[in-house]
Amino acid sequence: MNFETILFEEQNGYAQITLNRPDKLNALNTQLFNDLNAAIEICEKTESISAVLLTGAGEKAFAAGADIQELNSSDKYSGRVFSEYGSKVMLRLEQLRKPVIAAINGFALGGGCELAMSCHIRFASEKAKFGQPEVNLGIIPGYGGTQRLPKIVGRAKAMELILSGNIIDAAEAKSIGLVNQVYAHEELLTKTEEYINLILSKGKLALYASVDTILASEDLSPLEGLAYESRVFGNTCDSEDFKEGTIAFLEKRKANFIGK
Ligand code: COA
Repeated sequence: MNFETILFEEQNGYAQITLNRPDKLNALNTQLFNDLNAAIEICEKTESISAVLLTGAGEKAFAAGADIQELNSSDKYSGRVFSEYGSKVMLRLEQLRKPVIAAINGFALGGGCELAMSCHIRFASEKAKFGQPEVNLGIIPGYGGTQRLPKIVGRAKAMELILSGNIIDAAEAKSIGLVNQVYAHEELLTKTEEYINLILSKGKLALYASVDTILASEDLSPLEGLAYESRVFGNTCDSEDFKEGTIAFLEKRKANFIGK
């Protein structure tokens, strides 16, 4: 599949999406959101794709934010539309009922940090840098930064980062819970692939149901969330994977899941 601003590759049960404007540090312009949206749709519809790896092309950046060149001409109305479109695409990625893992290979600033936050798991290179520098441009984060960052790192840290526009390194991002793991730059992709292969060796239905129920926890009350979990748990008990997983355990052998 050919796109103008991303690379899309399906391999061994997952899709790798690579943001591909390295000369512009993979800044997010409208074309890139169009391409990303189309790639997400393929991931939604393709049964053989069970997870997504998202990374950036080039040595320097995952994504250095919204394209400031394009943003520059925004007014009240078009600025809102600009924000709504990027937000919608990132929400669609977050709501993909398949695990989405970011391999953050460099700058993840502004929209780049927001895109990383819309992924379910974040692995970072030790060279990665994070921040919401929008205040330096006289604006606020527009792709969910004010909403997701407090949930991930807590309100005070989110305030500290968004109000100052300060950039933090990968070690600090890990210490505040913004990234799951930090790896040597040259190991980042291999480690991310290893993790994806590990989760793909589990029953697909259980993976999808886990993503679904964890996401639901953000919108439901505790009681509704527990009831939802029990319903989905019941559904997973009605699968061939469940029978295979439990029988394999009792027979002391490795389970052979078929995703049904
Ligand atoms: N939008 C558009 N273009 C961008 C960009 C962005 N967010 N971030 C970087 N670029 C472009 C630069 O304009 C430059 O293009 P050019 O070579 O045609 O002049 C190219 O990418 C390389 O960036 P450069 O600034 O020269 O690299 P650097 O290593 O000196 O600095 C950063 C790296 C990330 C510190 C710096 O590019 C930066 O501050 N970018 C903007 C970050 C930001 O504010 N993001 C939030 C946007 S809402």
